[in-house]
Amino acid sequence: MHIGIDFGTTNSSLAAATDEGEVTLIRFPWQEAYTESYRSLLYLERWREGGRSTIKSWSGPEGIRKYLDSDDKGRLVQSLKSFLTSRSLTTTEIFGRQFQLEELIARILRDLRSAAEKQLGVAVRNVVVGRPVRFVGSDSDEDDAFAEGRLRIAYKKAGFEQVEFEFEPVGAAYHYESMLDHDELIMIGDFGGGTSDFSLLRVGPSARKSGRKAREVLGNEGVALAGDAFDAKIVRHLVSPALGAGTMLNSNGKMLPVPNWVYFKLERWHHLSFLKSRETLTMLQSVATQALAPEQIRALLYLIEHDLGYPLHQAVQKVKAQLSGNEKAAFAFQDGDVELSETVSRARFESWIGDELQAIEQAVDRLLQATGVSPQDVDKVFLTGGSSFVPAVRRVFSSRFGDAKIQTGGEFTSVARGLALRALDTNG
Ligand SMILES: Nc1ncnc2c1ncn2[C@@H]1O[C@H](COP(=O)(O)OP(=O)(O)OP(=O)(O)O)[C@@H](O)[C@H]1O
Ligand SMILES: [Mg+2]
Repeated sequence: MHIGIDFGTTNSSLAAATDEGEVTLIRFPWQEAYTESYRSLLYLERWREGGRSTIKSWSGPEGIRKYLDSDDKGRLVQSLKSFLTSRSLTTTEIFGRQFQLEELIARILRDLRSAAEKQLGVAVRNVVVGRPVRFVGSDSDEDDAFAEGRLRIAYKKAGFEQVEFEFEPVGAAYHYESMLDHDELIMIGDFGGGTSDFSLLRVGPSARKSGRKAREVLGNEGVALAGDAFDAKIVRHLVSPALGAGTMLNSNGKMLPVPNWVYFKLERWHHLSFLKSRETLTMLQSVATQALAPEQIRALLYLIEHDLGYPLHQAVQKVKAQLSGNEKAAFAFQDGDVELSETVSRARFESWIGDELQAIEQAVDRLLQATGVSPQDVDKVFLTGGSSFVPAVRRVFSSRFGDAKIQTGGEFTSVARGLALRALDTNG
């Protein structure tokens, strides 16, 4: 078996290819059925066993179930991949214990490995794994190397032995190629939760016959924003204003704004659960006593203390997905002190994500320019990843390449499928 793993910011998937190139996806139990995409989240709880206290964790669908079932919420962390470049986040305190980022990610990867071993009936040790062209937070190749090194450590901690990295869009290209009976010059656009990644390459039977070396990757580009950055704008416009963003407090007669860094963290899934620290909660409690809109700050405190990042993410994801198919959608979020509901038009959402769309366009243009390829030379454009459903993202490509060249599919699994084929290419 040749194994490919796509550890995504939001969802992960795992695929196995036989020597003949037949690919199967690993399936995970979820709500009396199965899913092939595994939420990359980790839920931790303090656990007492025989008088001893330990910290237990669950990831993916099991993590969601445990989180939803527990009355006294532990800690739910999301989008951990986005921390890999962060030199300031080496360890974090959870229930009084220091956790390394690598350890938290390894807990997810270990669960993925167990699920794969159970389904395949073989040990899973050697893998080809994906990485974005540019990690979230990266300003240089050095930052990317640093992030990749940390991800490698996480894989090793999770019990993998031989770990080879490949760019995620190149993985998607292998999947696209497996359905092709002729040669093509293709552009891949993979839009995930954390990053948008692009590759220009020649694929098809000729490349396949002559092996990986012959596959011509003309170039790669990436930009460290995607679905999570779109979500941030939804939170900024629909959620934060109801939780006291932009309001004032009265500190001994002096009018000051409520600290806005809290709202910046509230907007980003990977930061949200880390707001639940003693210092931040104490600070917000004191803000609540001085605030001109104390009930809004208390609602914010409620959201942080009760670890509502998961239901908030669900609500945001729902309105976003509905706007992919409809011109209007209803946003609704209700929990404890927090009650929000509003109708949003697609045009309004698109105006919020204007900067992100522009950054995506610039990355596509940079790739074309750097490789000296003009849109007419590109035979097909393959768009994949969950955020490729966003109509404004698709328009970036239809306006440059024309609708006829756009292909879509395998939004949540194409990268893992392709990485398994890439593993076969290396091993075989
Ligand atoms: N129908 C939809 N419309 C818009 N966005 C969607 C839709 N379905 C999923 N998404 C978004 O897609 C993103 C997840 O996509 P995907 O699973 O491809 O990312 P990932 O592989 O985990 O992330 P990355 O590749 O950046 O590490 C999330 O931001 C999610 O909200
Ligand atoms: Mg992805």
